[in-house]
Amino acid sequence: MRIKRRHFLQFLGASAVTMSIGSLPTGSNGSKLAMPFADANAATSDRLSFSPVRSPIPLEYENVPPSEQPQQFATFEVIDDIVLPEGFTYDIIGSWGDRLADSRFGYNNDYLSFIETSPNEGFLTINFEYISGKTWMQTYAPVIGKSLPFDAVKAAAAKNGGTIDAWVLAAGDPLKAEILEISKEALIDQGIGVISIRRNANGKWERTYSKSDRRITGISGLEDGRYLRATGAATAVFRKSNKMGYDDGLNERIIGTIQNCAGGTTPWGTVMSAEENFQDQVHEPVMPDGSSFDPSASPFIINEGAVDGRGNPLGLAGNKYGYMVEVDPANPQDYGTKHTWLGRFRHEAVAVNAMSGQPLAVYSGCDRRGGHVYKFVSKGKVQNPKDKANSRLMEDGMLYAALFESNGRGRWIPLKADTPVNPVMPSSVHGGMVTFPKRPEGGIFKATSDAEAKAFQRRFRTLGDLYAGSDMEKQGAILIDAHFAANAAGASCTARPEDTDISEDGTLYIAFTSGSPGGDGGPDKQVFSAKDQQAWEHGWIMKLKEDNNDPASMTFTWEMLAMGGEPADGGAGFSNPDNLELDKAGNVWMVTDISTSKQNTPNAEHRRGVFGNNSIWMVAASGPQAGNAYLFAIAPMECETCGPMFSPDQQTLFLAIQHPGADNGIRRDGATETRQFTLRTTTGEEFSQQRTVPIGSNWPDKQVNQPPKPSVVAVRRVNSQPIL
Ligand code: FEO
Ligand code: CA
Ligand code: CA
Repeated sequence: MRIKRRHFLQFLGASAVTMSIGSLPTGSNGSKLAMPFADANAATSDRLSFSPVRSPIPLEYENVPPSEQPQQFATFEVIDDIVLPEGFTYDIIGSWGDRLADSRFGYNNDYLSFIETSPNEGFLTINFEYISGKTWMQTYAPVIGKSLPFDAVKAAAAKNGGTIDAWVLAAGDPLKAEILEISKEALIDQGIGVISIRRNANGKWERTYSKSDRRITGISGLEDGRYLRATGAATAVFRKSNKMGYDDGLNERIIGTIQNCAGGTTPWGTVMSAEENFQDQVHEPVMPDGSSFDPSASPFIINEGAVDGRGNPLGLAGNKYGYMVEVDPANPQDYGTKHTWLGRFRHEAVAVNAMSGQPLAVYSGCDRRGGHVYKFVSKGKVQNPKDKANSRLMEDGMLYAALFESNGRGRWIPLKADTPVNPVMPSSVHGGMVTFPKRPEGGIFKATSDAEAKAFQRRFRTLGDLYAGSDMEKQGAILIDAHFAANAAGASCTARPEDTDISEDGTLYIAFTSGSPGGDGGPDKQVFSAKDQQAWEHGWIMKLKEDNNDPASMTFTWEMLAMGGEPADGGAGFSNPDNLELDKAGNVWMVTDISTSKQNTPNAEHRRGVFGNNSIWMVAASGPQAGNAYLFAIAPMECETCGPMFSPDQQTLFLAIQHPGADNGIRRDGATETRQFTLRTTTGEEFSQQRTVPIGSNWPDKQVNQPPKPSVVAVRRVNSQPIL
């Protein structure tokens, strides 16, 4: 691992003003604002256009001498609100439970895509990723206005270790009816929403409720005939008769879209929505012919913290989830298309490279420990990047997985039948475990020694030997089982690749959230390590450049732009980078995703608690300050900020506030705890900080005892000038 040197003193340059935080003005949230940049409104990448908000830990750009940091950072107050730089404000566009077409605004909003249709007007497409089980159950009745039989079903499940195989319950069983009712309501809160919005004369975005507004939910198609469509080789598996496993009887028709995390917006004006942790609702591993396991393989789960396995009572086929879904917000009849050539894995996001005269390249990461980075290359070529016919290019091509070499080079491995089996060796990854297709039974097995991986390689010569069916059906099965096939083909296991975003010059930025190993696997030690090859929890932002800037290139170079972690460890001051957004000046805006249970927790593993709430950063991508990160905003309690997207005029930063109050639900009577932290100065000396932490959340209403609600906001300057 190379640590990018962060030339912060150079960046401050002649215009820098050395100020101690104690002498700074007080911001609207009551915190002190650091103002190291004299020229606050310049839109170039070597000047900051905002005064960073006060950070919970000392950062180098704040320019507080290490000897003064213990005193300056002796206390910190965490706030249950979006903390923005002076001169900024935000407006709420929509919240969970709001009316949306013939349904409602879903839970846990994530990716946001704004597509302008005329000045100050356009479509905002919103992903609704998942429900936070505990808080969703606590707040469902007050927000949605009806009640569900949570207690009765929880009690029934508790007798069986918290799970119920509702698929096998008799049709007339009242418990099955209750589980179906809960499952459908929770699935309605997932999926995609399209709303139309307009900016009024005061600079505030408002909904206009056009006829294009629509919800695509986790049960679209089940009762309304609005099935999702599918394209690509996996449809041969959906269509085939005599499946080895479960057949839902629907052929290519698909019920619903679920776990819609991040995404991307195509140059031709459609939105790509990424189905991420689909394994929470349906069974992920498949049979050798790519067909699904029986729904009983993943039972319904309900306990104090979760309502999952919701595909079980409905008999959903697991092989139909885990795709990229394309939707055209301008077409009210469009309820989404799953492009199976882009692979079935835990898609976090997508980046589209459409250049005239070239094949289309579509990049996506699989957010799991040990997940891969993928590229689809179309068979046909792009004529006009803005032509909606480009969607058809995703119907034929090839899917590749990345092999990162430790020398900064890399290549793409095709996921097709004649690709040799060349398995990832368990000794090469943190945690020492890799998953492979299990044969002849179907499903997967965990290899924990190189001997097991080598024995697997001796049994199977090519990927085609692992899958069953006609040529097209085998290709479909490989796409359906992409993660495990890529492990067999020797693609690099990586560090939870989350967002992928491509700049105008063809540089692909990839956020790797976390380098720790876990139950799904771990990342390659040569590429994703701290010094001395130790696992590194706090993540990186990588730059990947195709050779000759050719989207179809089979080789590339890569380098890390920034590394997460505390400054004393050479980190940029953030932990767990997630979604990315590029501004017009080429800066990388990044939001963090520190697990809720680790936020503000003094003894959290890897010291993740010191970083406070999740936050929003601007990372300089070029120039002497490349890799430096500046704290733009801090999120409310127990949440994640998702879906950052600038309006074309850069006056608005759309943001999704996901899972406020995820662990403690409604903040009761202003509940607060005082916690002691051991912090470190930028040069590594320990000192203590007393931090006050609200327990639970009342955001966005901010009134005592109000339920927290995931909501979409528009961040802007009070004077509505561009943010950059
Ligand atoms: Fe849904 Fe990987 O974040
Ligand atoms: Ca994410
Ligand atoms: Ca995440």
